[in-house]
Amino acid sequence: MNQFYVVTLFVVFITIGYTGLTYVYSSLPFPQFYRQRQDELTKILQNYDDTRGWISSSLYNELNSFLVTRNYKNRNVKKTFVIKNHTVTNLPLNYDYIKFIKDDPTKIYPYSSWKCSETSNSDFETSGGYCVLTNIYYQSSTDLYYFFRDPSFQEQTDTRRDTFMAPYGVFKLNITDNIEIIKRLNVAATLTRPLLINYPPDTNYAHGFLEACAPRFWTLAECQSHPSYIDPTKIQIYFTSYLLHYEPNRNNYRRQSDGTYIPVRRWEQMIQSMFSIYPLLTYQSFNGSNVMFQYALLTGANNPRVAAWGHHYATNRMFQSFPFPTVYYRRAYLAYSEWILTSFNLKSKFELTSVQEELQHKKLSEQIPICDQTCSNHKKNNISSNEFTGEWIVVLNRVGIRHREMINADELVRYLLKAFPDRKNPYLRVWPKQFNFNDNLYDTARMARSIRLLIGVHGAGLSNTLFMRPGAILYEVNPYGCRHLSFNFKRWANVFNLQHALWVPFKGENGRTDDVCDREEPTTLNIKDIINEVKGLLKDEAEYRTGYIRRALKIITDTSIVDRPPSGFEKIL
Ligand SMILES: *[C@@H]1O[C@H](CO)[C@@H](O)[C@H](O)[C@H]1NC(C)=O
Ligand SMILES: *[C@@H]1O[C@H](CO)[C@@H](O)[C@H](O)[C@H]1NC(C)=O
Ligand SMILES: *[C@@H]1O[C@H](CO)[C@@H](O)[C@H](O)[C@H]1NC(C)=O
Ligand SMILES: *[C@@H]1O[C@H](CO)[C@@H](O)[C@H](O)[C@H]1NC(C)=O
Repeated sequence: MNQFYVVTLFVVFITIGYTGLTYVYSSLPFPQFYRQRQDELTKILQNYDDTRGWISSSLYNELNSFLVTRNYKNRNVKKTFVIKNHTVTNLPLNYDYIKFIKDDPTKIYPYSSWKCSETSNSDFETSGGYCVLTNIYYQSSTDLYYFFRDPSFQEQTDTRRDTFMAPYGVFKLNITDNIEIIKRLNVAATLTRPLLINYPPDTNYAHGFLEACAPRFWTLAECQSHPSYIDPTKIQIYFTSYLLHYEPNRNNYRRQSDGTYIPVRRWEQMIQSMFSIYPLLTYQSFNGSNVMFQYALLTGANNPRVAAWGHHYATNRMFQSFPFPTVYYRRAYLAYSEWILTSFNLKSKFELTSVQEELQHKKLSEQIPICDQTCSNHKKNNISSNEFTGEWIVVLNRVGIRHREMINADELVRYLLKAFPDRKNPYLRVWPKQFNFNDNLYDTARMARSIRLLIGVHGAGLSNTLFMRPGAILYEVNPYGCRHLSFNFKRWANVFNLQHALWVPFKGENGRTDDVCDREEPTTLNIKDIINEVKGLLKDEAEYRTGYIRRALKIITDTSIVDRPPSGFEKIL
């Protein structure tokens, strides 16, 4: 290893050939920069002055104290997986959530009640607050939720409230103070865990993962009075009949013989178990019999709570989204990604890899050989590294589907490998083929966590940029004429604390020059352009890294805007 750590101030470097880079070089404002030639290979600029090492030493200290606090809090995070050799297995679910009631004429029927707390959304007409309903009687054959009102309180207005907001919209109660109606239900069982009244995540991964599961995470976390994780031993997830309103959703769940459900999608199965150690219930789980929900939790409408990627963008979707101050999202999404990483025993986005730690401690520069056009000898350094501990340059592509596809992505990968020829570099390497994320959220989080630069086309896979370290780069490719498509990715980059770059061809496929945007159109990349930009972007990443990480740290530690659950339920939730 040692020969590798040559203590030198390396500089981004440009040789003959690339006019773009030459331009960057000549316009550099720092006179102390110099060129260094090493065969035909060059080294990437990493640092100057006090930023030697991986990040500035003051930030490094801040990071460490954040991580200490985080690890202290995270000892409360209940693990729901066994992870061995990077294989994840869900722990068995807990079935201790239902109490069957014997058919007995002396059965007691407790009154229902509800309690809500105001949230910071209370200025939105339909959002409501966080509400806990107790002793709700559910008649599954008619899909009616009965609220058994204490007649001695019937003059109070709040016992007449029958409408509450769930993330999908209205949750209606049928209010009665007639015990005969309740008795006739002949309740068969009590569900003893607080049920989160919810709806299934969208069939599209990006919308399901970012717009349904993320708000589910942060509202539940707030209801549990700790904004950075969920205690899955306290919550059970329940989907109302709203499941039916969107038929494709039904195919995403498999009914078990006991009436409980299992998500079919692997990623959802994994995140479901992080939310709850109890099986997933739906309105069809009860064999047509009637049950009582001891506690039902309503986290309000999702409208002001879902992702803020724009008004026009969401208008034709099932769930509308509305703008909301971005800073709220930024903390919430950071916490969401950190929670998932923690649940998988993966490193925080704020934690350095082992080679980055080493650079930091030795105050050394990262060394990444870059090859320019004239480099013919693609030397590999003699570094023995059994386990890769650094980061990746990744070309994400939807291979072979001919829409929203980068046609010559293989060529791009090939040229990236030429430009970054050291395949064993412990800091940064090129993923040696086109990449696509799979359905395994663990693999996804683990991989995305170590991507420094992601080149990809508009698509759901880009939502995994959520796991990328602050300051890492999302390099978006749009089809010709579709510059405006980057609207929501710029937004993602902003919310996820990433740098964003965009490449759009000058001409459409078949040489067209009209201004029509066909978002499904495949794109032919200009490899030379992109390779040049990649080199520049990596230099920027090094330059702005400390700033991005510092800002993200500031955002995640600001919990001044966190909402609270209704009082009196702290122990139950
Ligand atoms: C760990 O996983 C790898 C790849 O999946 C496999 O080749 C290896 O044998 C596994 N090791 C153990 C100890 O199970
Ligand atoms: C409420 O319950 C009563 C008694 O079961 C029933 O007659 C009535 O139709 C229900 N109301 C609604 C709105 O479903
Ligand atoms: C529904 O029927 C299944 C299979 O007999 C049983 O395991 C389950 O407990 C029943 N659920 C309820 C709520 O009665
Ligand atoms: C790298 O390894 C090769 C073969 O293993 C050896 O011939 C060469 O001298 C080594 N280079 C350096 C710089 O150590």
